[in-house]
Amino acid sequence: MKERTTLIQAGRKPKAHSGMVNTPIYQTSTVLFETLADYEAASTQKTGDPSYGIAGTPTHRGLTDALAQWEGADHCLVTPSGLAAITLTLFALLSPGDHVLMVDTIYGPSRRFALKELKRLGIETTFYDPLIGANIAKLIKKNTKLIFLEAPGSLTFEMQDVPAIVKVAKQKKVLTAFDNSWATPLYFKPLEHGVDISVQALTKFVGGHSDLLMGSIATNNKDIWKRLMDAYKHFGLYVSAEQAALAARGLRTVEVRMKRHFESAMEIIKWLQKQSKISKIIYPPLAGDAGHKIWKRDFGSGGAGLFTFLLDKAYPEKSIHVFIDGMKVFGIGASWGGYESLILRINPETVRTATKWPHKQTAIRVHIGLEHPDDLIADLAAGFKRL
Ligand SMILES: Cc1ncc(COP(=O)(O)O)c(C=O)c1O
Repeated sequence: MKERTTLIQAGRKPKAHSGMVNTPIYQTSTVLFETLADYEAASTQKTGDPSYGIAGTPTHRGLTDALAQWEGADHCLVTPSGLAAITLTLFALLSPGDHVLMVDTIYGPSRRFALKELKRLGIETTFYDPLIGANIAKLIKKNTKLIFLEAPGSLTFEMQDVPAIVKVAKQKKVLTAFDNSWATPLYFKPLEHGVDISVQALTKFVGGHSDLLMGSIATNNKDIWKRLMDAYKHFGLYVSAEQAALAARGLRTVEVRMKRHFESAMEIIKWLQKQSKISKIIYPPLAGDAGHKIWKRDFGSGGAGLFTFLLDKAYPEKSIHVFIDGMKVFGIGASWGGYESLILRINPETVRTATKWPHKQTAIRVHIGLEHPDDLIADLAAGFKRL
């Protein structure tokens, strides 16, 4: 089946649920059994059936089965947020005395977890240049256990040479994990590229409606899966059945929405390229972008409508506020992947240590939502006038 059809069908079993097209929301803590023997078989995991609500319900199973199919994974679990998927992966796979390599353009709170919690546990982190490619070999030490990738970076959109990094990791027997929230498996399937663990913030495009926080972790590696599930259980993590149903609903339309986000972003960028108050647009799908070659090779045809542009100079603080505060269609807020467009000033120089942000101009990040591009262009045009 084509991927679009998979996204519609995966994880749904109407016959098992009185014909209900969507898997119903099973809301429970207690699970009842006919006999003590049945309970004991479930609770010692002989049957694979849940013996208590925290082990998940058919609602959860419907979602994780669908996500696993989409990722090309044998195993998938969902977490209470995208960040929880990242921190659980790091916690489950690393032990005191280990070393982890993290891309310098990693999502800020992932960096914070490494600098605070991993450090406290005696786990050392080295941040690497996203453009490092095969030279990552030089940073691998005897105790390096994991390389954590994210591409493109969600502020400055550097792409990474994933095949080159994975090749080195495999030679050196180091695991790899990839935060794939920007592209989703629609445009990049980390596991197909040899990455061991694929992580997504479902909060973004799978949720799609800015009303859900959730993450997912997918893998084909049985040993990794066991370590992830053990940590998940030991922490007592859980995602509610209502939220799982919302994520499954988002999955059915994610392809259509992402296509529209992407097309609108391209249309708006075409207009932005002609604006005198803009000096640079950073977006790998754009021909001429530093990451374009890799994007074309590995991601192919799409991705998020999330990009950054640099104004023509470093504007005074007040001008930036006047520019952004007057927006009528763009909302001012973090996150992305929802139906509504968002705008923020960003300060990339403050969240990197291995590399230096070379630009002095004010940087603005936008998420292009599902509004008509003409209205977003008019909003930006009025903003440039204010500026
Ligand atoms: C690249 C990336 N990964 C992970 C996350 C975390 O997702 P969540 O907000 O669900 O914790 C975010 C959130 O902005 C993100 O931008």
